[in-house]
Amino acid sequence: MAPSKVRAEQSEDTQVRIGVLGMGNVGAALVELIYRQHDAIAARSGIHIDIAKVAVRDLDKARSQTLPPGVLTDDSIDIIVELIGGLEPARSLVLQALAARKQVVTANKELLANFGSELFDASVRSGCALLFEGSVGGAIPLVRALRISLAGEQIRRVMGIVNGTTNYILSQMSEAKISYAAALAEAQSLGYAERDPTADVEGFDAAAKAAILAGIAFNADIALCDVYREGIDAIDVSDIDFAHRLGYEVKLLAIAERVDGLESKTKVAVRVHPAMLPVEHPLSAVKGVFNAVFVEGESCGELMLYGRGAGGEPTASALVGDLLDAASNIGSNGRDAHPFRVHVEIDPIDNLRAQYYVTVDVLDRPGVLASVATVFGMHGVSIRSMEQVGLSDEARLVFITHMAREADVQATLDGLRALDVVEHIGGLIRVIGPEL
Ligand SMILES: NC(=O)c1ccc[n+]([C@@H]2O[C@H](COP(=O)([O-])OP(=O)(O)OC[C@H]3O[C@@H](n4cnc5c(N)ncnc54)[C@H](OP(=O)(O)O)[C@@H]3O)[C@@H](O)[C@H]2O)c1
Repeated sequence: MAPSKVRAEQSEDTQVRIGVLGMGNVGAALVELIYRQHDAIAARSGIHIDIAKVAVRDLDKARSQTLPPGVLTDDSIDIIVELIGGLEPARSLVLQALAARKQVVTANKELLANFGSELFDASVRSGCALLFEGSVGGAIPLVRALRISLAGEQIRRVMGIVNGTTNYILSQMSEAKISYAAALAEAQSLGYAERDPTADVEGFDAAAKAAILAGIAFNADIALCDVYREGIDAIDVSDIDFAHRLGYEVKLLAIAERVDGLESKTKVAVRVHPAMLPVEHPLSAVKGVFNAVFVEGESCGELMLYGRGAGGEPTASALVGDLLDAASNIGSNGRDAHPFRVHVEIDPIDNLRAQYYVTVDVLDRPGVLASVATVFGMHGVSIRSMEQVGLSDEARLVFITHMAREADVQATLDGLRALDVVEHIGGLIRVIGPEL
């Protein structure tokens, strides 16, 4: 194999050769950024990044940059940047690159959330880094902050708005008072939402990011299947109006928290769902497509990282940071190779204790309220407040519970569905913060 690191001419600077897999939104922005900023990056870091080769699926597509094909077989390439997305062939290519002792940088959240364990094992075996700052939070330096800046921290909870599309939709429902469907259509027309918005609105994208964040925050092996997930498609403007009256904002949150004490056996809960958050909470002020992650730790207290969570250019900015870290890992025998390793027990959603906002549409008949309240009581869910809103021959009952266990609330909803006076169970939103 050719030497993996050579000295740039006339200086002590380091030259690294990179191969980029994928030249879509992110890949093209990364290539442009490196071309534009090459000298400034070198002046600041002493590292010259040379783009040796790129790989794409369709060589005939028109592009702003043209570069020669053939990447993984080139022994002179030090770092592979995987920007293809999806599971295959991305997984196989990353494994091949690590086996060939190349450092790897990826922005592929789906890949890490599904195959992180396998890939990080391969990274450890090869002694080569697998870096992924661009996979969550776009330009926001979350991974480095959690892994390095907060390495001495006992993190209690990481709570974030990590999907710009859903935050845009909820912000528009909250501020412009438009329906979910209208806000989604607006997001699609502005290019913030895909034509098929499932991955965003049903919380899959946020769940993959939650798995990654939880993994770094708790130094743990956490996969997508460990994350409880709900999306925003059942949220109605009336739910948001109600939240406002109580002094809350509705946000889709990715939450990773340590559930038991701080002793040896770590138990972690990881979930994505809409939540009511006090308006004064810093995350409530995060509007539109912006992302933010709020960290609570034993020593650092509370801190928040905020910025552009997606888009080619912001993500490319994060990738350059990883490239510089990967460059300094060359020859260091895996200093940067294994970020999360510990097995942790996952606390199931059934064990969550929270207050709940629940709406129930019922037939407007005498005695209905008593039978509904009985079902809550049967499952030990205590009602803090109830409001009734008339809807012609139906009525909507809006409940806020006292602190309750998720399993008991779900059993209550099952019991309510079985009542013939119940037409529909609407929003179920967990309330974050001190008891109302
Ligand atoms: N877009 C964002 O805002 C954003 C933000 C953070 C992270 N990410 C992540 O970054 C990654 C890339 O996203 P993107 O938006 O740039 O995707 P994209 O626009 O769809 O680009 C994908 C690129 O991969 C190439 N490709 C597909 N299959 C290939 C194969 N078998 N071999 C070689 N190249 C192949 C495509 O080639 P052709 O050009 O020939 O089709 C295209 O250039 C994803 O993992 C995504 O989750 C994206």
